Amino acid sequence: MGIFSFLKSNRHQEPVDLSELQVDLHSHLLPGIDDGSKSMDHSLGMLRKFQELGYRKVITTPHVMNGVYNNTTAGIITKRDELRDAAKAIGLTIEIEASAEYYFDETLFERVKSGDLLPFHTNCILFECSFRNEPTQLEDLVFDLISSGYQPIIAHFERYIYFHDSTKMAHRLRELGVWIQLNNNSLTGHYGPEVKKQALLLIKEGLVDIAGTDCHRIEHLHILEKHLSDEAFRQLMRLPLRNKELG
Ligand SMILES: [Fe+2]
Repeated sequence: MGIFSFLKSNRHQEPVDLSELQVDLHSHLLPGIDDGSKSMDHSLGMLRKFQELGYRKVITTPHVMNGVYNNTTAGIITKRDELRDAAKAIGLTIEIEASAEYYFDETLFERVKSGDLLPFHTNCILFECSFRNEPTQLEDLVFDLISSGYQPIIAHFERYIYFHDSTKMAHRLRELGVWIQLNNNSLTGHYGPEVKKQALLLIKEGLVDIAGTDCHRIEHLHILEKHLSDEAFRQLMRLPLRNKELG
């Protein structure tokens, strides 16, 4: 310890380097098919920003929610190809893969059974639950996904208020083989103090497998960029995250 170590510890910290993640999982970049990007121009602006932040690939995940966002596998692939062509035309080099964020309701069991899913990285499936009501058959869904050969990933686990102030369910799901995805912006306070608290708790106990932007619009990336010097991001990046394994 040098004599300036005290001063050093109080200096403004360098921002974390998101290029270490390489891959972003969870975003809404396909134009006009959910509550994310509103136009191809918006999509390209977000992609450019992802590239500037150091990402080399995005796995974008439009909502599939019965009766709300009735996106089909074929429709998502068509939009993905349009976005790839438009990105290439303006010289963006970032790789674009598309999957979905499947909302967990009774219809998801049927999808798993019939194989009507668009996995990424061979067999990975991102799913989300209700923000307000704890799902009653979560373990059944996980069992169905795993026994059908899928790797389940639960989206923004820190945002489910019914699991707050405990890590019991996070431990349980990981025991079952689920990977836990955390939204980067939960650490910025973007979703409120309770979500931030839960995110920090999950990080502290090493219960985060994947960090994702859940980017719906470019402001989400601006907010993230502003907070990259925060200690919370340093802690996140110290975890053995799986992002770069995804491509
Ligand atoms: Fe999302």
